[in-house]
Amino acid sequence: MEKNKQDKIIELIDLTRKFEDGLIAVDGVNLYVRKGEFVTFLGPSGCGKTTTLRMIAGFDKPTSGKILLNGQDISALPPNKRPINTVFQRYALFPHLNVYDNIAFGLKLKRVRTAFESKGCKPVYKMKKLSKSEIAEKVGKVLKMVDLEGFEKRSVSTLSGGQQQRVAIARALVNEPEILLLDEPLGALDLKMRKDMQLELKEMHRKLGITFIYVTHDQEEALTMSDTIVVMKDGVIQQIGTPTDIYNEPKNAFVADFIGESNIFSGTYLGDKKVRFIGQAFDCVDEFEKNEKVDVVVRPEDVEITDAESGLVKGKIINSIFKGIHYEMTMKIGKTEIVIQDTVEKEVGETVGIRIKPDNIHIMAKEFSSNKYDGYITKKNTVCFGDGEFECDVCQLYDGSHLDDEGYLITADGEKIDLTDLDVKVEVGLKDIEITDDQEQGGAIGNIVSIIYKGDHYQLIVRTDENEEDFVFDTEDTWNVNDRVGVIIPKNKIKLSLVTEQKK
Ligand SMILES: Nc1ncnc2c1ncn2[C@@H]1O[C@H](COP(=O)(O)OP(=O)(O)O)[C@@H](O)[C@H]1O
Ligand SMILES: [Mg+2]
Repeated sequence: MEKNKQDKIIELIDLTRKFEDGLIAVDGVNLYVRKGEFVTFLGPSGCGKTTTLRMIAGFDKPTSGKILLNGQDISALPPNKRPINTVFQRYALFPHLNVYDNIAFGLKLKRVRTAFESKGCKPVYKMKKLSKSEIAEKVGKVLKMVDLEGFEKRSVSTLSGGQQQRVAIARALVNEPEILLLDEPLGALDLKMRKDMQLELKEMHRKLGITFIYVTHDQEEALTMSDTIVVMKDGVIQQIGTPTDIYNEPKNAFVADFIGESNIFSGTYLGDKKVRFIGQAFDCVDEFEKNEKVDVVVRPEDVEITDAESGLVKGKIINSIFKGIHYEMTMKIGKTEIVIQDTVEKEVGETVGIRIKPDNIHIMAKEFSSNKYDGYITKKNTVCFGDGEFECDVCQLYDGSHLDDEGYLITADGEKIDLTDLDVKVEVGLKDIEITDDQEQGGAIGNIVSIIYKGDHYQLIVRTDENEEDFVFDTEDTWNVNDRVGVIIPKNKIKLSLVTEQKK
């Protein structure tokens, strides 16, 4: 059969992965990937992207369902027998080896089927190690692909993050895979480097002509790079389509909210199809509880600029960038900023008005009102939760209680209680968490996994390593995704309560 770009190289059929603890990470996924295509799995952290990729690579086995490679079920094939290589976010280079040896490492172990010919006879095939010069040629070729010629002798520890990631890509490409899997490969890079690498990867994909299956939680990255995007949530595909399809015709609210640049504001639903945000009541089409706190989402292209007097709200343009087709302008209203896209530019410094049509105001119930954890009290009267240990006031557990000299709790009735190992519910408000560069100072340590700009502040999520516990909080400070930080919570901001429900 003639092979062309329309051929399905990978097909996932009812693919499901249920973990031993009952969690269904991938839930009946059906999709195909065409030969040579650049497909991106996009979704928030924990939606099952890595698990799906690991099953395609062969590092993990489906609980049920099938993976077809060129129409053949590859369930029984170990990872090294699949024509597939993976690039991970943590590049896992060997720090003691130089660039050349890092890339050549796998090749030195590899045996390839080689034809031995003698006159008049059919060739005989034998497994043979690659010669030094064959290895050198292959390494040279991939170094050129990733633009690192001349770096052979450099120790990988002297390279920048972007260069290290290119070595990791070269190391995957040197095996000449038919499919390259990339699991958030740019996640550890800073913004500028990430943008550059996005374009380089796209170019590499074009030149190599092989299939890329890419994983990211960054919608902009997915929109920039992919031929096809698969949006996932909780192990379930929400939508499959081209970047334009997904952006213009999101199938559901989740996709709409997840895709595209948006202004997100804190607001209050006033009742009667009116919502108040950025200091003004707007007509809207959704209905919520009266006085309910909500998140309001407005796409930059849905904000209409008017002259200062005819708008519902007025503010000053503080920034304007030409983005090829339109201008992206930032307007300041009091302390809040709103991003606007328009083909007509307004001057920086100019005061203008804005209007937003009711059906362009998307309202969502507030995702988080506070952080809630299960925790326990330690011998030292501190509380452990969220993979950390924090100072707290244990006396709040029993009204009118105090601690005696030995640290035992004495209730209002004079009863002495040993709190050690007592299970408690812990609640911490969104404004009661601080983070610090000095990790040791924090009660818990984690990475910033999400930053959402909410008009006049950022909402961050810090996730711990061990149990992936999240700390969600608001801050006005600027941080970067992937910063590693310590979590600080003032003693008096940790709300404790007794576990009252029956535990089975
Ligand atoms: N080995 C495992 N055992 C139990 N749960 C797991 C395991 N690996 C992943 N999970 C869970 O499966 C879900 C999906 O994880 P993952 O595929 O890593 O998501 P993503 O890559 O989209 O962030 C998460 O809830 C995660 O905690
Ligand atoms: Mg992942």
